[in-house]
Amino acid sequence: MTDTATLGLYGLGTMGSALALNILDKGFGLYVSNRSAKAVPAFVDEARDEGLAERLTGSDSLEDMVKAMPAPRAIILMVPSGRPVDSTIDTLIPLLEDGDTIIDAGNSDFRETRARTAKVEDAGLTYIGMGVSGGEDGARHGPSIMVGGTPEAWDAVRPVIEAISAKFEGAPCADHLGPDGAGHFVKTVHNGIEYADMQLIAEIYGLMRYGRGDTPAEIGKVFEGWDDGPLGSYLVEITGKVLQATDTETGKPAVDVILDAAGQKGTGRWTAIEAIRMGRSASIIEAAVAARALSSEVGVRAKGEDIFGACRAAIDLSDEILHDALLVGRILSYAQGFRILKAASEEFDWSIDMARTAEVWRAGCIIRSVLLDDIASAFRSDLPEGELIFAPPLVDRLKAASLALRKTVCAAATHGHATPALSSALFFLDTMRHARGTADVIQAQRDFFGRHGFVRLDGREDQHGPWWDDAG
Ligand SMILES: NC(=O)c1ccc[n+]([C@@H]2O[C@H](COP(=O)([O-])OP(=O)(O)OC[C@H]3O[C@@H](n4cnc5c(N)ncnc54)[C@H](OP(=O)(O)O)[C@@H]3O)[C@@H](O)[C@H]2O)c1
Repeated sequence: MTDTATLGLYGLGTMGSALALNILDKGFGLYVSNRSAKAVPAFVDEARDEGLAERLTGSDSLEDMVKAMPAPRAIILMVPSGRPVDSTIDTLIPLLEDGDTIIDAGNSDFRETRARTAKVEDAGLTYIGMGVSGGEDGARHGPSIMVGGTPEAWDAVRPVIEAISAKFEGAPCADHLGPDGAGHFVKTVHNGIEYADMQLIAEIYGLMRYGRGDTPAEIGKVFEGWDDGPLGSYLVEITGKVLQATDTETGKPAVDVILDAAGQKGTGRWTAIEAIRMGRSASIIEAAVAARALSSEVGVRAKGEDIFGACRAAIDLSDEILHDALLVGRILSYAQGFRILKAASEEFDWSIDMARTAEVWRAGCIIRSVLLDDIASAFRSDLPEGELIFAPPLVDRLKAASLALRKTVCAAATHGHATPALSSALFFLDTMRHARGTADVIQAQRDFFGRHGFVRLDGREDQHGPWWDDAG
């Protein structure tokens, strides 16, 4: 993908074809292929219809595509994560030569990306793990792109990646964020934050709908208004739209004909797993993952309602309070996402630039929001303890709005509305504002049953409690 490298794309599904059209649209030549050969002429026709087929070459197989491409080559894979990526790499390695690059642009597990980087580099080739966010529309018109690989690999692909990426005030929302798995890890955390934000929004909707009795259209209007303020974001914008949409078949609000069982492909869960593994619990993201899992148990929940009875009662919360509760929840879930990124960056020696990461997320991706510009600036200032929530502008917002989150969670709990993400956000804030918590009791218990020892407040380590004197 340097001036001289030829560019190929394998996997003409939803994301692959959109990204391919975007690449052609920006004036680059492109070779394409797909597992099922019939998708290739269909794509060529689509490109022709858009006046973009001039620099396009379609091949019936990956082998034919590689043969048609003059070296050096850079081949983007847009296939499902896991086995399809491995089998495609296994096919490609013997076909490629020194100077060629494989770019995995799917949602791969960063650990697999690390292993594949080693394997592909051992074969004398270059490997890039590239997170792409923005869905089909983003891929077509400008996604947010998170690149992992060597600086040299980045330099070679940079012109095309920057050209096809989203722009925020003219600046590309694409960057090299570290070696091997760093790009895919940042994408994973992006999706974890996405899960949290979607859950927070859904909970606020639930309080308006089932607590205040508002109609979806009324709630949609409120979200539409919020999109103009500090909550301005893609997710708030589309929530406003989906809530005001009508099902053409029944004339009911569109959301009212949708089964409330949330799907998930794994990236939110990976974020929660990695956070726990690193000892940096991301409670809001974990709550969102758990809520999706529980939502899928439709039959069990119906039985639960039969047995226990539904207990959602009316609540009295204003739009302003719910707005502020959502804003605080969002700030805290971003903060948790960045804490995980920081921990992973230290563990894997990635040196991820947090400010750049926030900037790359400002446009093109699903979690894009006006808040991310403030977050990028916060990371460029001196952060007390390195913590985003201690950045002065965010402290001011949290101080001004956290009472609204407390009122919201209190009202929800009192009146029987499940708000796991909002409650986890409040729990996180309350934990982080108390110098002394309750883990002294845990340490005493651990010492009591397992002689694990504890640190005394004067700093002496490996101390034991009087219960062992008694036992002796
Ligand atoms: N959809 C999104 O919004 C989104 C957003 C960001 C990232 N992603 C990631 O992008 C990647 C592609 O997603 P998508 O939504 O474009 O999927 P998709 O529409 O289902 O397309 C999958 C593509 O992969 C090919 N494929 C499937 N199994 C294969 C195998 N074993 N070997 C070779 N090729 C295989 C398919 O070929 P056939 O035509 O032969 O089936 C098709 O071209 C995934 O990693 C996904 O997680 C998706």
